[in-house]
Amino acid sequence: MKGVILAGGLGTRLHPLTKITNKHLLPIYDRPMIHYPLMTLVDAGVRDILIVTGGNHAGEFLRLLGNGREFGLDDIAYTYQEGEGGIADALSLASHFADGEKIVVILGDNIIEGDIRKPVDAFRAQPKGARLLLKKVPDPGRFGVPELRDGRIVSIEEKPKSPKSDYAVIGIYMYDARVFDIVSTLEPSARGELEITDVNNAYLERGELEHDILEGWWTDAGTFESLFRANQLVREKMIEKLTARIG
Ligand code: DAU
Repeated sequence: MKGVILAGGLGTRLHPLTKITNKHLLPIYDRPMIHYPLMTLVDAGVRDILIVTGGNHAGEFLRLLGNGREFGLDDIAYTYQEGEGGIADALSLASHFADGEKIVVILGDNIIEGDIRKPVDAFRAQPKGARLLLKKVPDPGRFGVPELRDGRIVSIEEKPKSPKSDYAVIGIYMYDARVFDIVSTLEPSARGELEITDVNNAYLERGELEHDILEGWWTDAGTFESLFRANQLVREKMIEKLTARIG
């Protein structure tokens, strides 16, 4: 399975921080944000990784990550998204890289406490379709929100005013190779973007959408509040690890 990190977009919700750098290069405690999704993929055994960047500071990713040797990788592939056409638009740039294989996609501003080995293994064994990860959150209206019935997802709404559950669809998605055909049929949403929620609903309509509940905490880092929270959560995790080692 191949991995794709989506780190395009202009990060306008974090202005002025993102006027002079890319959101995914901002610090989360002791590392640049992009390190975390990269480590999540590497820890899940994914070694073939593409980073989709954009905006004015795309070259800095190459300077920071190079061929990924620091992460035990042989190399990293990079591509560039023009403008801010949405998550599914950024994903469409991975079609050539995926080359017919299954992919695990992670948003560059999503950080998790644990790992995704179990769901990635489950998707390796899944014959076709897509697999999502859900997490209970206090503010579902900020995210893609699933409606659940008898343990199955029956619909997903993007940033609903009246959420139908208190779960968020987190920014880690697993797709078979048909995802690129689905993306090519999408129309821009009211906010002018190709929405990943529309991709997920297309798999749902085909009856090919599975999900797991993520263990451990999860956060995005695309607003001042969530960026601050991400720093706090990572710091607490590092301190716990250190304490456990020292005893
Ligand atoms: O964090 C999870 C949420 O991410 C999901 O629950 C939502 O369903 C999904 O739409 C998304 O919501 P956001 O509105 O928070 O996404 P945002 O625009 O902040 O973009 C998240 C990441 O996606 C960003 O860090 C980089 C990548 N991206 C985004 C856009 C708009 C791109 O690579 N290109 C883009 O054009």
